[in-house]
Amino acid sequence: MTVPILNASGCLDALTAAEVAQTLDVFVTKTVTPLPREGNPPPRIAETELGMLNSIGLQNPGIEAFLDDTLPRLARLGVPLWVSVGGFSVQDYAQLCTLLSGREEVTTIELNLSCPNVDEAPETAAEIVAAAREATPKTLYAKLSPATWDIAETARAVADAGADGLSLVNTIRGLALAPTTLEPTLERGAGGYSGPALRPIALACVYACATAVDLPIVGMGGVSSGRHAVALVAAGASAVALGTVLFAEPFAARRVRVEMTEAAVALGYPSAAALRGKAHKSATFANLSAL
Ligand SMILES: Cc1cc2nc3c(=O)[nH]c(=O)nc-3n(C[C@H](O)[C@H](O)[C@H](O)COP(=O)(O)O)c2cc1C
Repeated sequence: MTVPILNASGCLDALTAAEVAQTLDVFVTKTVTPLPREGNPPPRIAETELGMLNSIGLQNPGIEAFLDDTLPRLARLGVPLWVSVGGFSVQDYAQLCTLLSGREEVTTIELNLSCPNVDEAPETAAEIVAAAREATPKTLYAKLSPATWDIAETARAVADAGADGLSLVNTIRGLALAPTTLEPTLERGAGGYSGPALRPIALACVYACATAVDLPIVGMGGVSSGRHAVALVAAGASAVALGTVLFAEPFAARRVRVEMTEAAVALGYPSAAALRGKAHKSATFANLSAL
């Protein structure tokens, strides 16, 4: 058994970088919404010392154009496809899931539960997942924000509502100010913070959710090496996703895959998958669902 490597949603355009997408075990699309969205005005990406801020604003062609044009082209990549969906209401998510249900190119739907107007309360997350569950028989992953007081509670709520897996974690809100003007560097002010600073936060979320629910987990947040990936696996992830690192190193998946095995072997395990859950000292940790 291996640990699959995915891209994090929104961090790779597979249609302009097909060879990069083909280094992945799964390609995850940027979040698609019911209607087309132009996204926020620039600047909408800023570098900080320990990561990146973005306020892309869910730019996407909308579900209609996605189904007619984008999806058939993505399917030609020959990589399993997960489609990330987002909306502004429970009905938006249900509608998107219904429309994707009939498309055999799609293996899994990832519900981006950190969208504008969607609060992060466990009840809201559960409501969206329940509606999505009703709308589609496809595998459903719930992608959660780390900015919640108890992510394990949200994980339990979405598991009870019918989620098949978790994607952990989305970005966390951050702000950067230009040194001379002291005005926000992003036009919209605050943005989503990703990259190295997210690593311990992601690790804590995966660790907490792995003990709370018996669901496979895609771990992400600042992964740029095999050791980082292995740490998420030890915390309970069954797969890892690469996000911010892909902007600097598009082919990072190849390196991380090799490094993951090297790191596991150096620790005395035959593979990265073999050390899944090792961060949990207690024998009560038995939740080892595979992707
Ligand atoms: C430029 C950019 C765009 C993103 N767009 C999306 C998106 O459309 N949907 C989503 O669920 N997450 C989105 N994310 C969040 C990533 O998928 C990922 O959860 C986050 O960046 C943490 O991983 P990383 O630290 O490896 O980048 C985006 C992140 C970045 C940096």
